[in-house]
Amino acid sequence: MPAQALPTASALDTARLLLGVLLPTVAEGPVIKRPRAVGLAARLELDSKAVAIVRKVHGKYPDGPLMLKLPIRKQAVVLAPEDVETVLAQSPDPFSPASSEKKAALSHFQPSNVLISQGPVRTVRRVLHEQVLDTDHPVHRLADAFVPVVEDEIQELLVDAVRAGSLPWDDFADAWHRVMRRVVFGDHAADDTGLTMMLDRLRKDGNWAFLKPVRKRTRARLNERIRDELARAEPGSLAAALAAAPKGDGAEPADQVPQWLFALDNTGMAAFRALAVLVTHPEAMAAARREIDGDTSGRRHLPYLRACVLEVLRLWPTTPMILRQTTQPVQWARGLMPAGCGVLIYTPYFHRDDRHLRSAHNFSPERWLTDEDDGWPLVPFSDGPVVCPGKQLVLLLTSTALASLVSGHDFEVQEGPRLDPARPLPGTMDNYSVTLGVSLRA
Ligand code: HEM
Repeated sequence: MPAQALPTASALDTARLLLGVLLPTVAEGPVIKRPRAVGLAARLELDSKAVAIVRKVHGKYPDGPLMLKLPIRKQAVVLAPEDVETVLAQSPDPFSPASSEKKAALSHFQPSNVLISQGPVRTVRRVLHEQVLDTDHPVHRLADAFVPVVEDEIQELLVDAVRAGSLPWDDFADAWHRVMRRVVFGDHAADDTGLTMMLDRLRKDGNWAFLKPVRKRTRARLNERIRDELARAEPGSLAAALAAAPKGDGAEPADQVPQWLFALDNTGMAAFRALAVLVTHPEAMAAARREIDGDTSGRRHLPYLRACVLEVLRLWPTTPMILRQTTQPVQWARGLMPAGCGVLIYTPYFHRDDRHLRSAHNFSPERWLTDEDDGWPLVPFSDGPVVCPGKQLVLLLTSTALASLVSGHDFEVQEGPRLDPARPLPGTMDNYSVTLGVSLRA
């Protein structure tokens, strides 16, 4: 008897998911954000609508992965929280992160990166990332170098912002790019905007995945630049840690680095969004300042500020689509998922589920300091063996940045969304439109 197939969405529900969920998310930019598309999504509330569409479709079908009715591609959407756990726990095999569309997108700038690798070389590359990024440690072993870099750049940014009276996103992003280059390559790379521009150009192509040819010459130049940096290995940088780490066969160290630069970019977005939330949430700001005033760890352990960043990433995940592709057929309670099947976890569906979460649409960092959401998939950094290996580094850098920003300065929203603690927060956070007023703290 042939194995029972998984439930399949009708053609209409498939179209709803494609047009209402996938299309807006992809249009906002899977690899590098498109600011105008983010602005449009915010105005039209497309991300909130996407969550409502998934909920509506889910209501019509049994729990368990739902296949889409597509002519060529085999694609499933995960709808049940326990299935999120199964998929993430059983990655990278049989649920490989190296899905076809991710390979097409990331090959534009990092064809041998861990995220799109399979088999023994994936293991070798993953081990290398974990070693260099100190994945299992809340405080990176190079924190003594990284924390002053963040403090230094934020102080310079604040001096200019106070003089100008305002802090627009673009200025923050420039300062954060300097942080990124110094953390990854060392102080000598602080002003190397050319490197960031080269990567951004390839990332823009990456947004088009299969639809754009790879600029092989630019990609080769980027790889060569990174090799030079690894050879230079400035002490106190991730490049030095990478150069010193033992490497297995097929590690391709230079091709692992663009992911750090790319992901550190998202990290800046999370930090600035968290600042915009704190500025509009007086109780949270007071709690943050109490933590900073009482800090004896030199800004290494700031649990409340780390929780603020996690909460901002719950509300507005920078990776809203976690993608997998099956390496072999997978049996589920309700049927068989074929090999080569794309699997989508649309995280906002779970992160904003007000049937299960307290204050699903409000800023409540405390949830990350208790076990109230245990067992529910809040997965801005993913989970399981493929969990983001940079998570702790992100939390260290962003909490340090927030502490440097709010300890001696006051802010107000001059332009952009005014987030109100008494009302549900929007589904999209358009950080590009935000300008904050800045003054010295009274
Ligand atoms: C706001 C900041 C960040 C967020 C929200 C984030 C989130 C994620 C997510 C969701 C994944 C995908 C995991 C999966 O497919 O299951 C991922 C993968 C990854 N992230 Fe991050 N990330 C961030 C920053 C960073 C930073 C700063 C680094 C390094 C410096 C980094 C390194 C990586 C690497 C190497 C992978 C691939 C892991 C693998 O395939 O095994 N990330 N990240």
